[in-house]
Amino acid sequence: MVSAYAPGKAILFGEHAVVYGHPAVAVAISKGVQVSLSGSDSWTVGNRPLCPNRHPHLNWLVERNNLTDRPMSIKISSELFPAAGQGSSAALSVAAQLALAEFSGLSTDTVDAAITAHQAEAYAQFGRASPTDTATSSLGGCVVVSNNLSGTADTIFRASLETPEGVMEWDIGTVDLTYDDMPHIVLGHSGAPSQTGKMVSMVAELISENQEKKQDLDFIGELTLMGLVALRSGAWEAVGMTMDVCHEKLRSLGLSTPVLETLIEAVRPHSLGAKLTGSGGGGCMMALTYNPERVAQTIELSGGRAIITPMHCDGARVLKS
Ligand code: PMV
Repeated sequence: MVSAYAPGKAILFGEHAVVYGHPAVAVAISKGVQVSLSGSDSWTVGNRPLCPNRHPHLNWLVERNNLTDRPMSIKISSELFPAAGQGSSAALSVAAQLALAEFSGLSTDTVDAAITAHQAEAYAQFGRASPTDTATSSLGGCVVVSNNLSGTADTIFRASLETPEGVMEWDIGTVDLTYDDMPHIVLGHSGAPSQTGKMVSMVAELISENQEKKQDLDFIGELTLMGLVALRSGAWEAVGMTMDVCHEKLRSLGLSTPVLETLIEAVRPHSLGAKLTGSGGGGCMMALTYNPERVAQTIELSGGRAIITPMHCDGARVLKS
């Protein structure tokens, strides 16, 4: 049996603006997805046949690794909420790619896994996907995705993708976040699914009708750069304040929901900052805090589901048994 694990992610700054070329900053979280492979007579996922419609990422990866004729049984065990902005499909793609590569004696380098898993995500999302989730899940730690990193982070690799709008390119970098006094992140799931494609299209429509809204995205881009400076110097209060302002902009773009607002308002007294994270319209909020238990309790008492995670979590890996 071969197994691999890949973490989920939380976007600190830059969701939606990254679609328009601005930078985004994300961190790996302490929950993720494990994929295990064992020999079988036919390709199965959790005892059901591998179905391209139900498992587009897995089907694409099996074909990409030329393994169609070497059937296996795939077992998936996930600690992430699906469709909640925690990067569950990216973590699945990264863990599956690492396990398939280990099984077939191919490269299990995390950069290679990030590149292949990004292509699988793009395939499953009809040609459009930023590499934010797959890069963060693969590399772990704090990841910056940008058109132009220009010294804001250490460049690790470059991703490119042929999209319906033409070839897109991104620089992927990492920021070392190893300080003594690091606050925690608490994620609060609103209980409603978040549909990334729908929310991205909604923002596209909004800015085509109202050019002023485009300025909100530009401002999120500027906030992301400010947040990055604060992160790199461990200025956690400034990181939190930047998250708050970022949330105001996401809210004015119509991406928050009444439940997300309730959770965010409830945790503010115990947090350095709080915002929705991911595409919005449901899914998760996040808080940065020195009092994670209290924030988690507050989220649960307000009707959400909480996950506490350190700011610095490892990336994907093959699990040796
Ligand atoms: O899939 P989510 O909820 O983590 O959101 C992804 C972030 C977006 O900027 C909204 C989309 C993207 O491709 O970057």
